[in-house]
Amino acid sequence: MYRLGLIGFPIQHSLSPWIHQRFLKKANLTGTYELIEIDPTESFEQAIEALKERGLDGFNVTVPYKEKIMPYLDRLDAEAQAIGAVNTVVNEHGLWVGYNTDGKGYVRALENKYPALFATKTQRILVLGAGGAARGIYCALTALGCQKIDIANRTAASARDIATLAQGETETSVLTLTEAEENLQVYDLIIQTTSVGMKPDETKSIISLDRLKQPSIVSDIVYQPIETTLLQTAKQQGASIHHGHTMLLYQALDAFELWTHKKITIEEMDKQLQQELKGR
Ligand code: ATR
Repeated sequence: MYRLGLIGFPIQHSLSPWIHQRFLKKANLTGTYELIEIDPTESFEQAIEALKERGLDGFNVTVPYKEKIMPYLDRLDAEAQAIGAVNTVVNEHGLWVGYNTDGKGYVRALENKYPALFATKTQRILVLGAGGAARGIYCALTALGCQKIDIANRTAASARDIATLAQGETETSVLTLTEAEENLQVYDLIIQTTSVGMKPDETKSIISLDRLKQPSIVSDIVYQPIETTLLQTAKQQGASIHHGHTMLLYQALDAFELWTHKKITIEEMDKQLQQELKGR
């Protein structure tokens, strides 16, 4: 019997219970996944004390607590430390250990759709945006050995900050969004990590794709709508696309594996999640 959950605010519309209850069923495990909303106007410390008393086997952490939870953990995985945020906590024999599966889950989702994509590490990658999501994705890509990952953001300082996380042979240039548009023809993979294009502003696109390379892959982490204007435009131009909702599934799968050590297959959940999202 696994006792799992999610802390954050607001979380009433979270898809995580929907996902993890299906995972538990697939793994033939019994368990619960509770929504534990922590009001930001209340004492976080007290909320954490109450959470410790619940004795959960593990929980996810979402906005606005991904950084705030860190001082309350007994141990931190190296990648979560580099990213500076935690989205998954595992109760390991009474100790809380923090992980971050957002970026790893994203890369796993992308690799699942395009299995040969990271066979070479020399493809040119452009990350659009430099917030928390970009940070996790950049860390996962540099850990994988990708050698050329540029970052374009409205605010250069946050992009430069992410570039300091480069490992091994990764080289990174920081660009303005206009420079990215103008140099788009060099990129094999473009990853949109901001909220631009999300409902109700679904007509917006963070950059123009006029100079898109052929062939290339355009990926957007926005999943409401499932197919953003950016992805529609990329498709019209003949590029391959990657939908953001799959990141939700794979970051959850990584967390589930950390909690239960069970391997499950989730291929058909892609379509089911698309249906679920349409109803929301
Ligand atoms: P998250 O943690 O979900 O990634 P975030 O930390 O708020 O969210 O990051 C938001 C990202 O979206 C940032 O890169 C932000 O650009 P700035 O660093 O310049 O703020 C980007 N962003 C948000 N709205 C934007 C807009 N209208 N145009 C361009 N970039 C935008």
